[in-house]
Amino acid sequence: MNPIDHAFIALLRPFGGTEGLAHTSRLSVLACVIGLLILAFVFRRNGNKLKCLDMDGVPMKELGISSTSKTAMLFQPPLISKHGEKLAHDEPYIIRSGKHREVVLHTAEHVREFLRNDAKADRLLGQCVGALNGKKWRVVRSYFDPAYSHNASLVILPSFQNEVVKWLNTLKNDSLRTGVGRLVVHAPTSCKILPLRVIPQSFYGEAYDDDAYTKLVRVSQIQGQALKYAVTGRWQKYRWFNMLPTPSRRQLDRYHQDWQAFNLEMLETARKKGLAIPAENVFKGVQPDDAMSMDQYLQTIDEMIFTNIDITASVLAFMLSKLTKHPDFQQKLYEEIVAQKAEEGFNLNNYITRQTTLLHYLCLESVRLRPATWFSVPECTTIDKVIGRYKIPAQTPIIIDVRRLNTNALTWGPDGAEFRPERFASLSPNEYRYGYMRFGVVSGKCLGKHMAVVLMKVAIITVLERYKIEEVEMNIGVKDGDLAFIKRK
Ligand code: HEM
Repeated sequence: MNPIDHAFIALLRPFGGTEGLAHTSRLSVLACVIGLLILAFVFRRNGNKLKCLDMDGVPMKELGISSTSKTAMLFQPPLISKHGEKLAHDEPYIIRSGKHREVVLHTAEHVREFLRNDAKADRLLGQCVGALNGKKWRVVRSYFDPAYSHNASLVILPSFQNEVVKWLNTLKNDSLRTGVGRLVVHAPTSCKILPLRVIPQSFYGEAYDDDAYTKLVRVSQIQGQALKYAVTGRWQKYRWFNMLPTPSRRQLDRYHQDWQAFNLEMLETARKKGLAIPAENVFKGVQPDDAMSMDQYLQTIDEMIFTNIDITASVLAFMLSKLTKHPDFQQKLYEEIVAQKAEEGFNLNNYITRQTTLLHYLCLESVRLRPATWFSVPECTTIDKVIGRYKIPAQTPIIIDVRRLNTNALTWGPDGAEFRPERFASLSPNEYRYGYMRFGVVSGKCLGKHMAVVLMKVAIITVLERYKIEEVEMNIGVKDGDLAFIKRK
């Protein structure tokens, strides 16, 4: 998630005890509003007065984000990254939005210094696991982690395979422009369907049937609408505003109610049918002693499902489109799959787990060039440090420009921006330890990293076994992102 996503997540949080606000008297609402306005004014005055000087006392360069460029940061973060590059070249710089400032790092050297001797790091916002830190984070993760271990991902591999086959059949039925042995698939749209089927299934197990899928799609639309208010609304960034009985507040309340109802219904269905589902084990953490709060439970599932469906879908679509642009690599990968399957005693788990295959290199290269987010979640340093010759005081919020880190020529060579999966055959992971952000900085905090890899690999194997993927010539009715799936003989 990026820092902006976190701001949205914060906006989507329920505000305990305010649900009845719409029903309170006008006078008390007015008193509340006045009080909140005063508080908002006081808080607005406290931006962070970040100053980073180099050894000669020269301040770090600052990139100011106006409201226009804020929209660019949301919808075209690489553009902001390019502005930063133009401004500060190889040096770190400060990004300023209103009164808030964050230091942007973008080389392996910067990241190494950032992590050196640092008990890292304070997260800044929210209740979902991606926005927590310290003990709270460990508690929430201790309940979710077992459902997403490497082994757990391999256990659900057969059901992933079934879902991928079903997905391909749906594409066949849905595609309006099929020819003999040929499907035209709009990859960005079609790739969203698969994770929406598979990721929730990994959590709700067999309770997630067609009916639940339809309900989840409906909740996701309400969530999308609430998110839209948060993104485009002028006042929604102020916490006090979100406590007022506005249409956007009502939309948020509706989302929170529906999301909670959906999740409780999944648990109820599983209990009634006697199904052992991962959600039930995780829910044991929601105890009266508040080991994990209901908000943390619901928001972590929200992050897992809604945010990560989009991420996984866009990586999958990127992979497919790169395979069409690199037919030689596609052919070699296809041959690898056929050869693996022809081996005596072939075991799909082993092939999926191996890290020296073209299939694995494809996954590494795709996330390198199409990362989950273009800027990392802000984290604060806990001690003073020197990064790229600048003195960075403790408690400085830091974000990483993932686009630049993942393509930096010092780590990746002069063709760092190009798609060449085989580069990983001659690189040891130590060589890109600090220069590659895939599932998080260095260690990879992503809860779904094992599952995401299994899903991507199963999808690619299943598609390539059946189809050769080609570009579609631009013509009337052909959209950007359309790909031709040609049936193999
Ligand atoms: C190709 C697919 C994916 C990529 C590239 C990806 C990448 C990431 C990244 C970079 C982070 C931020 C880590 C950090 O803050 O240091 C993250 C966090 C997270 N991801 Fe993923 N992710 C993917 C798929 C998934 C899936 C399928 C799930 C579903 C379970 C998932 C669940 C999460 C959660 C819950 C977090 C927050 C973890 C925490 O901070 O404790 N991700 N992911």
